[in-house]
Amino acid sequence: MKSLFILVACLFVPLATLANEGAHLEVSGANLRDTASLQRGAKYFMNYCFGCHSLKYARYNRMAKDLGLTDDMVKDNLMFVAGSKVGDNITIAMTEEQGTNWFGTVAPDLSLVSRSKIGGVDWIYTYLKSFYLDPTRPYGVNNILFDKVGMPDVLWELRGTQKAVFEDGQDTAGNPTKVFVGFKREGGLPDEQFDAVVRDLANFLAYTGEPMRLERGRIGNWVILFLVIFTILAYALKKEYWRDVDH
Ligand code: HEC
Repeated sequence: MKSLFILVACLFVPLATLANEGAHLEVSGANLRDTASLQRGAKYFMNYCFGCHSLKYARYNRMAKDLGLTDDMVKDNLMFVAGSKVGDNITIAMTEEQGTNWFGTVAPDLSLVSRSKIGGVDWIYTYLKSFYLDPTRPYGVNNILFDKVGMPDVLWELRGTQKAVFEDGQDTAGNPTKVFVGFKREGGLPDEQFDAVVRDLANFLAYTGEPMRLERGRIGNWVILFLVIFTILAYALKKEYWRDVDH
């Protein structure tokens, strides 16, 4: 019994520590069933992110189908790399070497980012909202969720200027530290509109992380229903077989 308890505890400890890391995430409210939001997210992605980030595990025509767009709509509005075709993967022209030279680090492929981060879609949402002015950084911005980030604030026109407010505090060892208390944002879009843009972007990246997600849920419901019916049948059959044996 005791060893069982220890085993179960061991299973949960790593999860608990990981969960801690993902603390302070804002809830995005993103919804994969909201096709209009996914379409807007795809548009924002192509306009604001695609210069640096690829989605190499996604294809243009699959995205068109899933997002309720025609191939021509995608061709005319969402394909920016010269010579690419609708059946191509969504790759960028920048090589890793150029990325390293220009930004000091490679802008990672974002197809699966919503699944690689603890907190998933909420992580992306919070990350995109957490850029703040920091003159000590090469691009003049830093990020509360991703300290010393190597990505410029590409949404600066929509965000306006955002400052982070810190208070003096102490870490667990008693050393003085700066504790983040909140943001002060000026200019840019009104809060709701800015949040909506970021939500659409996060939603779109949640979609690319697992295009089958809704389909999987739908099939899953039928499987459960099948199992329930099958269990009832199996039980009835068992009763039938054992009816005479019991007497
Ligand atoms: C000018 C190039 C550039 C643009 C444009 C850009 N990024 Fe980035 N992004 C980067 C770089 C470089 C990194 C890596 C940062 C680091 O490792 O410090 C990064 C990192 C990220 C990460 C974290 C990835 C990880 O695995 O840790 C996310 C998420 C992200 N970007 C999302 C976006 C979104 C969404 C957009 C569009 C709104 C965007 N980026 C536009 C350069 C860019």
